[in-house]
Amino acid sequence: MEIGPGAVHLERYFSIDDQRALVAQCRALVDGAVPAYVPIVRGGGKMHVRMLCLGKHWNGKTYSYETTRSDFDNLPAPPLPENFRTLARDLAHAAGMTLDADLCILNYYDADGRMGLHQDKDESEPSLAAGLPVVSVSLGDTARFLFGGLRRKDPVEARLLESGDAFVFGGPARLRYHGVSRIVPGSAPPELGMSGRFNLTFRQYDIAPSQM
Ligand code: SIN
Ligand code: MN
Repeated sequence: MEIGPGAVHLERYFSIDDQRALVAQCRALVDGAVPAYVPIVRGGGKMHVRMLCLGKHWNGKTYSYETTRSDFDNLPAPPLPENFRTLARDLAHAAGMTLDADLCILNYYDADGRMGLHQDKDESEPSLAAGLPVVSVSLGDTARFLFGGLRRKDPVEARLLESGDAFVFGGPARLRYHGVSRIVPGSAPPELGMSGRFNLTFRQYDIAPSQM
């Protein structure tokens, strides 16, 4: 369903079996050799998620990408799994866009998880200029997702992102403000055997001249 130009909510895109497999993969990643952590951002506040970046690391102190986690433990960002890259490409296509993702930010929200209103604007200037989308996948508990406009003070629409949903925003929607006001505890499909929510956002930092 198109929410606005360049913004598409793909409801129930993933089957429960697909979701189960993705949840297992996310769990293994966040508790792996390079584990998820709670970033402390520029102003000194703690984020309300556990974060793991794949492919490239987003540094919450500098709001820029790097290869090793210099704001935390200096470990290298694990590679972006190949099936994640394929999935992001397919989702972008389903929304009428193209994406060759080179990074993913994987966040885990517990019952108190949330994320303030922000823009995703730390990818490369050519990638942002081309409007290459952010592809978001939700697993587990439902989130109350806020989707605003291009200015912070623009009106904000609240949408529920449920397990198995994807949300794609690119083109004219690429820099729209968004956030997560709350998680709905206990709303995950029982088949997943999980509490809390995984969210994956795929992005493309580097861009080939042919995509510009
Ligand atoms: C984000 O904006 O990075 C996360 C959005 C979400 O969790 O749905
Ligand atoms: Mn974001």
